[in-house]
Amino acid sequence: PVTVFPDEHVASAKVAQRIADLIRSKQQRGEMAVLGLATGATPVGVYAELVRMHREEDLSFRNVITFNLDEYFPMQPTAAQSYVTFMNENLFDHIDIDRKNIHIPSGTLPQEEIHDFCLAYERKIEALGGLDLQILGIGRTGHIGFNEPGSAPNSGTRLVTLDDLTRRDASRDFGGKENVPTKAITMGIGTIFKAREIILMAWSGKKAPIIKKAVEGEMSGEVPATYLQLSDNVEFILDADAASELT
Ligand code: F6R
Repeated sequence: PVTVFPDEHVASAKVAQRIADLIRSKQQRGEMAVLGLATGATPVGVYAELVRMHREEDLSFRNVITFNLDEYFPMQPTAAQSYVTFMNENLFDHIDIDRKNIHIPSGTLPQEEIHDFCLAYERKIEALGGLDLQILGIGRTGHIGFNEPGSAPNSGTRLVTLDDLTRRDASRDFGGKENVPTKAITMGIGTIFKAREIILMAWSGKKAPIIKKAVEGEMSGEVPATYLQLSDNVEFILDADAASELT
């Protein structure tokens, strides 16, 4: 289903409320909530709202385990552009999550350890009973996570090559496209699919053409997000501008 909100602030508050409800209902049952998280501009408002709920409404993250979708490769965790830095600044530094419950693909692995690391990432998620909820943005290539065009629907966590458009879109953060890493480690489309609930968010008219393809286009590896059409557990949460080309 597709839900359209007037603007990204209202939409972000709704998504944050859904996450908070999940965390609290798990808390009441003495269970852990396992969340799949995204970086980038899109989820910033959701994380800000979760931080506010932690400060003002006693929302605790003690029973939360997180798995981030992706990280550039190579990437030092302390670098300004790393997804570790992004998550710390936007969420983790401001809440009471146990640091050992945070998982982000490593950008510093020796080449020969990448394969085992990716398998272990999958196994950890499985051992915890799977992702309760996966949050997604969407790239202008149609990528989810860093599953670029050509990704298989059953793909797992792996090292991938970034699309040229994705590197161009990231060039501002890196002070030029030539400084954007050419690779990343990402959860696969198959990994994302196993989540019990998936929320894909998109804001602004810049995302309208790719949202039209993802929601209404023919399913194809050319636009990896179209694979989400196969799942019954996906909700597209859009602002009016991102939804403006939908029929
Ligand atoms: C980030 C990720 C990417 C972004 C996508 C949109 O962890 O997996 O798929 O969600 O590139 O980026 P923004 O939100 O910056 O437009």
